[in-house]
Amino acid sequence: MNTLLLLALLAGTCAAQYGQSLDDLPKITDNSTATSSNEKYILPPLPYEYGALEPHISAQIMKLHHQAHHQAYVDNLNKALVELKEIQGKEEMATKDRIEVLEETIHFNRGGHINHSLFWKGLAPAGSPDASIQGDLGEAIIAKWGSADEFSIALFRTILGRVRGSGWGWLVCNVDTRELLFATTRDQDPISLPQLVILGIDMWEHAYYLQYYNNKQSYLKAIWAVLNWKEANERYLACLKHTPSSS
Ligand SMILES: [Fe+2]
Repeated sequence: MNTLLLLALLAGTCAAQYGQSLDDLPKITDNSTATSSNEKYILPPLPYEYGALEPHISAQIMKLHHQAHHQAYVDNLNKALVELKEIQGKEEMATKDRIEVLEETIHFNRGGHINHSLFWKGLAPAGSPDASIQGDLGEAIIAKWGSADEFSIALFRTILGRVRGSGWGWLVCNVDTRELLFATTRDQDPISLPQLVILGIDMWEHAYYLQYYNNKQSYLKAIWAVLNWKEANERYLACLKHTPSSS
């Protein structure tokens, strides 16, 4: 991606997209350096305690996942953005090579930060009112897949069949057709318009290995118990009201 375009996107000329843009995520001003003042992204707190999703997802996994993995995406994004600004406009070949590396680093860690921020908000303690399928989304799922069980079977089959290595499984809504669809992305690639995220499931090993080892099916069943359907329904309603991407 062209560096100027990348910086423009990061500077906020791209409209916030329901949690799918860095503009949606919190920043603070960092005055720690004597020569410059920079805004930097920060790790958003979880909307529940680390142990709130037990026994389905252990507190150990949640704490490591949030404090180590998500924090690393935030830190590496901030570091790469600072370096990119510092070397911007320099023409040396070595600098051009470095810019390419930084652009890839920003793409990866930007996605990691966005995806995990959506993921945490998309989970809720099992048995809580938020964790039961509900609202217009629930009706749309049953209309398309027949039942919540059939939906989960189809979703898991898609994720297990298509995510190889590290990646994400998604239920998305297309803002042009209002249709609910399954999607998968590699590494930390995020979802973008015309699709909006309804549900996101982290399929990186760091999300389940300490508790479920290589049993991805058991992990998916555990995640199913702690999905935040209230949040998912709000995202679906936002999709239904969203201006079509082509207009
Ligand atoms: Fe993760």
